[in-house]
Amino acid sequence: MRTVLVTGGTGYIGSHTVVELQEAGYKVVIVDNLSNSYAEVVDSIEAITGTRPVFEKVDLKDREATLEVFEAHPNIEAVIHFAALKAVGESVEIPLEYYKNNIDSLIHILEAMQQYDVKNIVFSSSCTVYGEPDQLPVTEQAPIKKANAPYGNTKQICEEIMQDYRVPNPQINVISLRYFNPIGAHPSALIGELPIGVPNNLVPFITQTAIGLREELKVFGDDYNTPDGSAIRDYINVVDLAKAHVVSIERLLNGNNKQGYEIFNLGTGKGNSVLEVIKAFEKVTGAPLKYKIVGRREGDVEQVYADTRYANDELGWKAEKDLEETLASAWKWEQHYRSKEKERE
Ligand code: NAD
Ligand code: WQD
Repeated sequence: MRTVLVTGGTGYIGSHTVVELQEAGYKVVIVDNLSNSYAEVVDSIEAITGTRPVFEKVDLKDREATLEVFEAHPNIEAVIHFAALKAVGESVEIPLEYYKNNIDSLIHILEAMQQYDVKNIVFSSSCTVYGEPDQLPVTEQAPIKKANAPYGNTKQICEEIMQDYRVPNPQINVISLRYFNPIGAHPSALIGELPIGVPNNLVPFITQTAIGLREELKVFGDDYNTPDGSAIRDYINVVDLAKAHVVSIERLLNGNNKQGYEIFNLGTGKGNSVLEVIKAFEKVTGAPLKYKIVGRREGDVEQVYADTRYANDELGWKAEKDLEETLASAWKWEQHYRSKEKERE
């Protein structure tokens, strides 16, 4: 059994990826400091897969503690590095914490990989690096635009750090995955997205409104140059996204990567507007969602969706689930989580 270290493995995308890795036969070691997730997620992963991943509660800002994880698990062959702070607005408020957390963590992981001779890493990047793209759909060759917030800048810097690091260390293989907008939850509804406090992202805000936790959804702008005036994004199912990580790990471990540093867009290739998402969600629940149109949110781009041909052809991966099925999974998760929460009270 091959061992993969998953940083941020109790988080939203990490937990779904741990499930897919275990189901594909990998042994998983999770590292997470639980700054944005809960230890109970490990129980849920075990409930879904029948296997309990190893869990190390470690802060990757702590270099020694990071090295100790590699010391304790000498069979690690690859790392998937999810751990990061990810709230765009918060990153404007506390930029140094974002730079320290996201950049120090990556540096400590690379140092540990060097010391313990681990050669493969998959990195969580973001379509945010493209900013407002000049051409749609956006390809991996599209220019990187100046980040509109420290969060996005940490992704750009991390990509550059790995590229620079490979110059004297060409034996290190990197796959950088640029996610578009991950949404939805595992079909079991045992794991899903669990934002702490008021959600910034569209779909958790929608499900929390539908369940009565929020008064109404604010739609940020209906005066964009799009068919219905609301902004367009590429919403990708989190389980589809998780599977792309398994494919990436296989590619690295089998030596099938064509270049030492590869970048793939992970999206569906289809753009949906905010109003389309609302309509699709209403179809899923069979009930109207309470929303109102307000002004644009600062820093938002008008539209972005992926050209997925490179990931489809070269990685051999394709998003399979459609928007309605994905929104249904998000709704099921919200309902399941809140009913469990009531039981706990
Ligand atoms: P998440 O917050 O649910 O998961 C991240 C996990 O990392 C959390 O469990 C958190 O506790 C942990 N973590 C953070 N800093 C850490 C540290 N110093 N040491 C140890 N653990 C630490 O976020 P997510 O949505 O699952 O995102 C995973 C990755 O994907 C992040 O790198 C994020 O930037 C990237 N990404 C997310 C999205 C999105 O919309 N969710 C889009 C593009 C890219
Ligand atoms: C989607 C659309 C909003 C909330 C963010 C990060 C990006 C990436 C993914 C990490 C937009 C609209 C939202 C609401 C709304 N993360 N909206 N009312 O902004 O595309 O991307 O998450 O890398 O870097 O910026 O995602 O879900 O916040 O918004 O109308 O209450 O929904 O304006 O058009 P976004 P989102």
